[in-house]
Amino acid sequence: MSKTTKKILVVNSKGGSGKTTIATNLAVAFANQGLQVSLLDCDRQASCLHWAEERDAQAPRVKTIATFDSAQALATQVTECSASCDVIIMDASGRHTDPGVFEAGLKASELVLIPMLASSLDIKAGERFVTDLLTHRAMRADPKPTGVIYNRAQTNSTSHQRLEDLLRCLDIPVIAELKDSAVYAKAAQYGAGVMEMRENIAASREYDAWRDIMIWIDRRTAGRRELPRPIQAGRKIGRSKISQNRVS
Ligand SMILES: Nc1ncnc2c1ncn2[C@@H]1O[C@H](COP(=O)(O)OP(=O)(O)OP(=O)(O)O)[C@@H](O)[C@H]1O
Ligand SMILES: [Mg+2]
Repeated sequence: MSKTTKKILVVNSKGGSGKTTIATNLAVAFANQGLQVSLLDCDRQASCLHWAEERDAQAPRVKTIATFDSAQALATQVTECSASCDVIIMDASGRHTDPGVFEAGLKASELVLIPMLASSLDIKAGERFVTDLLTHRAMRADPKPTGVIYNRAQTNSTSHQRLEDLLRCLDIPVIAELKDSAVYAKAAQYGAGVMEMRENIAASREYDAWRDIMIWIDRRTAGRRELPRPIQAGRKIGRSKISQNRVS
């Protein structure tokens, strides 16, 4: 059976929206499930690499690789990591990621996560970014499941309502809400993720949100993987074969 690797792009052109926080925490969550994880840093600021330098050598491994130099470097790493890894996570910014690298990441990815804050400036930028993303030629050629992670959530604010309205219009789901919590900065300081901070109460308050994110990813990637293969022209396929291919 061929290996199936989840390929996830975390992206938003707005600085500080939480891309690196989400990419690193996601990598940790998968690594703690015993999966082989590659974290590809597409952002010239190299924040994932800095995070990895702080990571405890005994902690579940997250193979972190710089891929911000060229689209070719990213494509090569995606191919190489696909042979050995269960999950590939790409951290791509708008400002510090070369447009060619961004397009290569979008083409290589299977689904897209957009971290979003809900200040009015973030929402304006987010609206532009989501529109650009959905109309990007790579996305039109091969549409990917796309979800927003509402970061540093303040669910009673008016801007939250605006964000909800905007995403409903664009038909993009909010898959989880992360609290505004100092535990994220603490985790980053130690090259860790909240899902492995088992004694920390603030971290444990985030577990449900991270489980929601993992479930959403599993459903979307499993859904794409389980789509029945087209039947070859002229080849008859028996009932048993059809039921094996059926999406459950
Ligand atoms: N949910 C949260 N609660 C509190 N602080 C957070 C949260 N998410 C992110 N932060 C903090 O916000 C800052 C920016 O987050 P992060 O570096 O993940 O954003 P980014 O989108 O990767 O930024 P850039 O565009 O510069 O790459 C960091 O200091 C991070 O620790
Ligand atoms: Mg970043």
